Amino acid sequence: MRVTTTQVNVEKLAVDLLVVPTTADWKAGTVAELDKHLHGALVPEVRQQGFKGQDNEQAIFQTHGHLPYRHILLVGLGTGDSPSVWYRVAQVAASRAQELQATHVGFVPLPAYADAPTLERVAEGWILSLYRFDELKSTNGQAAKTTHPRLVVVAKGTAELKAALRRAEHLALAACYARDLVNRPAAIVTPAYLAQEAKRIAREHDLSGRVFDVTALRRARMQCILGVAQGSEQPPRFIELVYRPAKAKRVIALAGKGITFDSGGLNLKTGDGMTTMKRDMAGAAVVLAVMSAVRSLDVNVEVRGYVAAAENMPSGRALRPGDVLTARNGKTIEVLNTDAEGRLVLADALSYAAEGKPDVLIDFATLTGAVRTALGTRYAAIMGTNRQLVADLIAAGQASGENLWELPLVEEYRSELQSSVADLKNIGEGGAGTIIGGLFLREFTGNIPWAHIDFSSTASTDKPFACHPRGATGFGVRTVLRYLLAQGS
Ligand code: BES
Ligand code: MN
Ligand code: ZN
Repeated sequence: MRVTTTQVNVEKLAVDLLVVPTTADWKAGTVAELDKHLHGALVPEVRQQGFKGQDNEQAIFQTHGHLPYRHILLVGLGTGDSPSVWYRVAQVAASRAQELQATHVGFVPLPAYADAPTLERVAEGWILSLYRFDELKSTNGQAAKTTHPRLVVVAKGTAELKAALRRAEHLALAACYARDLVNRPAAIVTPAYLAQEAKRIAREHDLSGRVFDVTALRRARMQCILGVAQGSEQPPRFIELVYRPAKAKRVIALAGKGITFDSGGLNLKTGDGMTTMKRDMAGAAVVLAVMSAVRSLDVNVEVRGYVAAAENMPSGRALRPGDVLTARNGKTIEVLNTDAEGRLVLADALSYAAEGKPDVLIDFATLTGAVRTALGTRYAAIMGTNRQLVADLIAAGQASGENLWELPLVEEYRSELQSSVADLKNIGEGGAGTIIGGLFLREFTGNIPWAHIDFSSTASTDKPFACHPRGATGFGVRTVLRYLLAQGS
């Protein structure tokens, strides 16, 4: 466990760094107690640093051997009491721990915020913040292996708190696993690699499932996945993973876009446009990461995970603009832009998932660049055919510090997808790109209550922010897991 509890008195705690969150009333409580042990040196020094306990403020104090730890870190909370405040506190603690090379860090909760849900966020934020993608650095292995500093929460280790900390660890490690998959280059993460990962997850967590290779895809009439992949040397895969706990009453299906590299195909992207396109399988990463955690989290609903994995490349064999593909549900699609490939592979995946008649169907996809124009980098778009489902997902996102904003599936725009030669075309007229993507996908969801999350905007970040180092964010994993936990209770 990376985060544990202790009931040792704070002046006896054997750690390198003690983290104390405080409100504007910072001189009270733990700080007063520590101040006594430090013969009144703490309060004036902290005041001198201009610390007022406001949101985002920090003060650091050196104990010079008067207490077991070298440093005390005060973190201001202001008046905030949302999950995001606690994620940020955890981030501050983690970055200071790394700066000070602390391997053991103590955390003294405020009495008013010592509840399990709050400490769950702190633990989750701690693990998320310490994530680094360094497996491809040549210094890795030569330098002393960087160990994760441990966090010890000063609190009574009740069954409820222990369960919350365990949950936090599973949630955060699942998100970190998704980050690894997204951060790894496309030369490593091929469709076959994703299928291998799925098989490993199934083995380790006792899931059932199946991997469709090219022959199986042909037999299953998944022409869209085959079409997108046909210009690539990498054969596509379709992955199905099923978690079926004993007394499940509901069935939730998840589908992920797994384009392991999106060059655009013959509608080739610019050099700049494809620099980050190894990340176009972030939807698949959400599905695999969620499936890797459902058993450990004891989720109480049946979960089916589907991944449509293909590489989108130009070549003499590539899909051409004007080609027509038949999706698994029988609808024909005129491909007018080979760079709108995510909706093609998802057409097959959603059709297949819907056939199994789950209670709800949720897809994750880095589908459009337009979502970033609409919402910037801190919100992902959600669209759907069921109010309750959309509301539940937004709430689970809020609880996880992951923002979802609903866009409307505007019926008037549906006609833009009308094709003169097939049932549908894969692009609209240019406006409302994210909504058009949603309207297209809706055609393949049968009558299953469905939600679509387009997270091209949040799947990765160039600027680090609370609990999120540069690169893949793991966005969606904790949201879906919290949604699943809420459905099963
Ligand atoms: N994978 C891209 C979407 C994307 C763009 C993700 C930028 C992250 C950053 C997707 O396959 C794509 O190329 N979409 C096109 C759709 C268009 C051709 C209708 C786009 O957004 O330009
Ligand atoms: Mn594309
Ligand atoms: Zn794409």
